[in-house]
Amino acid sequence: MSERIRILAVDDSQSTLEVLKRNLESNGYEVFTALRVAEALSLLDSLDIDLVITDYRMPQATGLDLIRHVRDNYPDTEIMMITGYPSIPGAVEAIKDGAGEYLPKPFTAEELLTVVERIVQRLLQRRVLGSPDTPPDNFGIIGNSPEMDLVFQRIGKASSTDANVLISGDSGTGKELVARAVHYNSDRRSAPFVPVNCTAIPDSLLESELFGHVKGAFTGAKDARAGFFEIAAGGSIFLDEIGDASPNMQAKLLRVIQSKEYCKVGSSHVHTVDTRIIAATHKDLKRLVAEGSFREDLFYRINVVDIAVPSLNERGDDILVLISHFMGKFAEAMNRAVPSLTDEALQAFRHYSWPGNVRELENLVQRLVVIVDHDPIEITDLPESMRFILSSEGGVDRSLADVEKEHISNVLAMTRNNKTRAAEILGINRKTLREKLKRMGLE
Ligand SMILES: Nc1ncnc2c1ncn2[C@@H]1O[C@H](COP(=O)(O)OP(=O)(O)OP(=O)(O)O)[C@@H](O)[C@H]1O
Ligand SMILES: [Mg+2]
Repeated sequence: MSERIRILAVDDSQSTLEVLKRNLESNGYEVFTALRVAEALSLLDSLDIDLVITDYRMPQATGLDLIRHVRDNYPDTEIMMITGYPSIPGAVEAIKDGAGEYLPKPFTAEELLTVVERIVQRLLQRRVLGSPDTPPDNFGIIGNSPEMDLVFQRIGKASSTDANVLISGDSGTGKELVARAVHYNSDRRSAPFVPVNCTAIPDSLLESELFGHVKGAFTGAKDARAGFFEIAAGGSIFLDEIGDASPNMQAKLLRVIQSKEYCKVGSSHVHTVDTRIIAATHKDLKRLVAEGSFREDLFYRINVVDIAVPSLNERGDDILVLISHFMGKFAEAMNRAVPSLTDEALQAFRHYSWPGNVRELENLVQRLVVIVDHDPIEITDLPESMRFILSSEGGVDRSLADVEKEHISNVLAMTRNNKTRAAEILGINRKTLREKLKRMGLE
């Protein structure tokens, strides 16, 4: 809190920058200046900037590009736009884009300070209160549970080293998101992140896809082609579904990881590899190794830092945070108000088993935001499989007969009274079901 507010002023006119600097510094702010957008970007990257003041018109990139960049990469940084043309469409667009405040040129020192102070008030307030709708910045991955904390710690560790990483977790848990977080928080962030789906490459093309080929390397190789390792030079390769890599691919990967060298198809020139490997799988690689379908030597090469992503139902209240995150995201995209959920609907979300994990939750929320036109969203708006789980909930002080009766009526309701289907689900024959119904007075 005692830290001074840091302002970055960006303008292609040195004299405007000087005016800004003088006025703001004399009011206690720490001021940095940049004449070009590129310079601004590197300052943003290296300093904790609280507020960016930018001109609209600049050579190379416009103030608008800069604003977008700040919005996307520094969500806590405030933005103020200065423009000599308040009526130009770009300025309006900028405000819609979340530019925050804008100040028309020419301005007096007093006008400048009024706007800046308004922004600073907002900043300070947010620092004191904490922001309820911007959760702690965990690489853009939503979650506060202790289980996810472990994941965040591992991402932090993996980002600060150059070691190979193996990410495991069920389908839809966010493995790719984790892989991107590792890359974009590492020193390799300015070089490419190159996803490779290990199941999708036929063995015949494998070598050329991974390492590239020279012109005329084989029939049909009319042009030279860069391989994944070349494209990812300086960056990271994301080997997705590594558990499904063919034996041939496993062998090729092992060789390139061990030797850190490769040749393009059709050439004997040796290239050095400068790429970090981030691999992911929904399979249990250790078991595959034990069964003999995954090479143990390759496993140890990639499993230097391992990150296990928990399934959604292991994350406790994260489900609530995720619901609210996705509701907000899709409501905004649809340009409608964020809908709420009845308690009952919320309970159903909590008790459902989420076999498709976060992806399933995200898809469901999206569908609800698109389809449901009333507020709040009710339990009857949810898919039947979710309602069913909830209705079989009950206290623990009930007799077996009571629970059985309720369960049978739920199954009948779900099958719309189809007794054959209900008996199937209950694992009893139709005759037994009929007898039970009679005894319970449900016929
Ligand atoms: N913690 C999270 N916060 C926000 N969004 C998430 C989170 N986890 C996953 N998602 C979203 O869920 C979807 C699935 O994530 P992702 O593709 O990373 O999963 P995956 O584990 O790679 O799945 P699969 O095994 O099926 O390939 C994506 O749209 C992703 O943005
Ligand atoms: Mg994936």
